[in-house]
Amino acid sequence: MTTIMIKHYFIAACAAVMSLSAFTAAAQTNAAAPSADQQLVQRGEYLAKAGDCVACHTAKGGKPFAGGLAIATPIGTVYSSNITPDKEHGIGSYSEEDFDRALRHGIRKDGASLYPAMPYPSYAKVKPADVKALYAYFMQGVQADPAPNRGVDITWPLSMRWPLSVWRKVFAPAVAADGPEDNSPLVRGQYLVEGLGHCGACHTPRGVGMQEKALSNDSSQFLSGGVIDGYLANNLRGDARDGLGNWSEADIVAFLKTGRNSHSAAFGGMADVVANSTQYMTEGDLSAMAKYLKSLKAVKEGTPALAYDDKTHQALRKGSDQSPGAMAFLNNCAACHRSSGKGYEETFPTLALSPTVNAENPASLIRIVLEGAEMPWTHKAPTQFAMPGFASRLSDQEVADVVTFIRSSWGNQASSVNASDVAKARKQLPEKKTVEAGSAPLAKQ
Ligand code: HEC
Ligand code: HEC
Ligand code: HEC
Repeated sequence: MTTIMIKHYFIAACAAVMSLSAFTAAAQTNAAAPSADQQLVQRGEYLAKAGDCVACHTAKGGKPFAGGLAIATPIGTVYSSNITPDKEHGIGSYSEEDFDRALRHGIRKDGASLYPAMPYPSYAKVKPADVKALYAYFMQGVQADPAPNRGVDITWPLSMRWPLSVWRKVFAPAVAADGPEDNSPLVRGQYLVEGLGHCGACHTPRGVGMQEKALSNDSSQFLSGGVIDGYLANNLRGDARDGLGNWSEADIVAFLKTGRNSHSAAFGGMADVVANSTQYMTEGDLSAMAKYLKSLKAVKEGTPALAYDDKTHQALRKGSDQSPGAMAFLNNCAACHRSSGKGYEETFPTLALSPTVNAENPASLIRIVLEGAEMPWTHKAPTQFAMPGFASRLSDQEVADVVTFIRSSWGNQASSVNASDVAKARKQLPEKKTVEAGSAPLAKQ
């Protein structure tokens, strides 16, 4: 009897000691270095941010990565896939190799080719070690969600997927191999910009097959500007007038980190890129990307930089310019952007000498005047200053006048815009998104 009691007591004590040591071991792993597995998942999470997977793979109001976001393409609407680890509707049954085939080769597990709305031609540059980390994150760090995938809204015969495999063979590059780690800033920056960052998906012009005209800096078309969703994704090369020629590396880092700097503020698709992706990148990675961007030669080398000219400012102050464009500017824009055109740094961006204002293609200017915009929310700059939309207040002609005015004032030199360009852009405005003049809060915390 006593022996049995003692035995029981002994077993209980042992169990207590064992669970205590298990507890301390767990506490130690939490407090101290994470396990190799956890580290891989964390690295994958960081890389998923750098690749901005969430932007396309999350529907408005949907669960992260559960897919279903409608993406317009010239032939119809494609919906992003559920890439949560749900076994039935997501990618829970994908092996690392299946995941890699989709991510870098553009081939689904069932063998069908993906629409290049999924930027796999850029992700082809991702190294196998990083694919491994991304896979670990999507399998272990993401919550499974059973949202079913949606088919495409594309009419037959364009809805057939086999032509996509032809596209893939013609336009998709070979995938990267694991090489020796080279983390010198220029190499790292190139890797991030051309690869996971898929900056070219928006910033590089597209050819007749909708392929990006260049996937790396072997052509000056690379990052020379592209139109996406009615906005111009600016030239990011060294051009002084409409590119990043006058931006320092620190200016680029500030823009990617906070969505604003002394030259500009992010809007359109770029506001989402900053909010979901680049604000989370390390200072080291952002500087590397900035260094790489600054190494890109101008498309038009030798074009002199613009110089500020005070004439417009003087004329607006004296009231000597009564042209429709000047009047529209004074009545609708000057309160924020000021008659000097210089705005207020990091609050209301400058219009004078701005690459956005001086871009050959005025798409972004027409769009922002019609629709308004709101700066992205970031941890470093949580105040989201907003610009109201003027779609209901200004006619096509008035928008054309004011945009033409800002493109030829304060030293800016860009072509005029006509009412028919504005009419076209107005027809393409997405419904409801418009923040009407007068109703927009100036700043939201
Ligand atoms: C610009 C939008 C966009 C971005 C960014 C994007 N995807 Fe996709 N992705 C899509 C679309 C659209 C599809 C579906 C294409 C189709 O149906 O042909 C897709 C498909 C996929 C698939 C295939 C799923 C299946 O059913 O086999 C995987 C895996 C995937 N994406 C992973 C990722 C990962 C990982 C990232 C980030 C590194 C990412 N995607 C970023 C748009 C995007
Ligand atoms: C989804 C499309 C999209 C992607 C992807 C994208 N951009 Fe942009 N980007 C835009 C648009 C649209 C603009 C113009 C609006 C603005 O100035 O914010 C822009 C503007 C910019 C500007 C400001 C240029 C200026 O002269 O004002 C910089 C810098 C920039 N992008 C860098 C990048 C980098 C670096 C990447 C890759 C990490 C990237 N972008 C990826 C759409 C995109
Ligand atoms: C209430 C203040 C306000 C008014 C009025 C206003 N804006 Fe803006 N504007 C802003 C803010 C804030 C931004 C930055 C928006 C963002 O980044 O999302 C901006 C951005 C812009 C940009 C993009 C600049 C860049 O490089 O990022 C242009 C161009 C512009 N405004 C033109 C105009 C014109 C033309 C008018 C008059 C028709 C006007 N704005 C009226 C506040 C204003």
